[in-house]
Amino acid sequence: MSSGFARGRRLRSTPALRRLTAQTRVAPADLVLPVFVKQGIDEPVPIGSMPGVVQHTQDSLRKAAHEAAEAGIGGLVLFGIPSEKDPVGSQADAADGVVNVALQQLRADLGDELVLMADLCLCEYTDHGHCGLVTPAGVVDNDPTLDRYAAVAIAQAQAGAHVIAPSGMMDGQVAAIRQALDGAAHTETPILAYAAKYASGFYGPFREAAEGAPRFGDRSTYQMDPPNADEALREVAQDLAEGADAVMVKPALPYLDIVARVADAVDVPVSAYQVSGEYAMLEAAAANGWVDRQRAILETLTAIRRAGAGTVLTYWAVEAARWLR
Ligand code: PBG
Repeated sequence: MSSGFARGRRLRSTPALRRLTAQTRVAPADLVLPVFVKQGIDEPVPIGSMPGVVQHTQDSLRKAAHEAAEAGIGGLVLFGIPSEKDPVGSQADAADGVVNVALQQLRADLGDELVLMADLCLCEYTDHGHCGLVTPAGVVDNDPTLDRYAAVAIAQAQAGAHVIAPSGMMDGQVAAIRQALDGAAHTETPILAYAAKYASGFYGPFREAAEGAPRFGDRSTYQMDPPNADEALREVAQDLAEGADAVMVKPALPYLDIVARVADAVDVPVSAYQVSGEYAMLEAAAANGWVDRQRAILETLTAIRRAGAGTVLTYWAVEAARWLR
């Protein structure tokens, strides 16, 4: 090669040159930490399939939230595990329901320091473990579920959520929630729609953490089918038409093509959720000494940002934020 050619290596030769020419950066503020809070426990309960992640008590959650704020991350997304489950998921919108209490306390503790996002779904609250109401024949019933989502959204906004994040994949959920929020004087509360959420094998550890595995069947009739990509754009367009303020793709790493296509297609903020199975897989490999843990974690976060996500929901949010400061 003659010396007249541009050479890729010239700009890679020192850490300072690489830093200067890096096209993608990950900042603590880009990261959102998913947290689990469980009713009726005195001590945090470790989740076997997610080393380092726990089901929090209200108190341990408050402490974790302070640490998250100190680390400078963007926000939290809250999941609750109630003591009592029933067919309609009553605890999801009970004023003294576990997540609503947590939201009140965190909002009182932290004010607007962190963005408090409420995951809105029924699977942690229903005894059958589905994301919506179920007919006697065992089919998840779309439209009656929307009324439940509307009530839950109001309860969560009332409790102090800054953002409502519906993850149940019912058709029309964003419109129903927008209408409910507006009707209850929460016109300023944004909706982050889990717009392209796939029926994924990577949610396994989450179902241990959130105790929300379906008792029968699976979620393939409402979550998206992994082979499909164009459908993700339709789901995103639909959610935006219904009033979503921001959209999410989930999982992240196995769906980077979807993240990239969605980011190209829309002009609203795009999030990607690095889910429990992605976390568990890398932790397991690192525990065996098979990958360099920190390097691999940061590489995944960089890849998700590079694909076009502005925000990454990740169980490593606080730890990674500390590395990135
Ligand atoms: C509930 C919900 C799930 C996740 C987030 N919200 C599980 C599911 O759909 O079964 C998964 C998150 C993770 O795996 O980390 N609808």
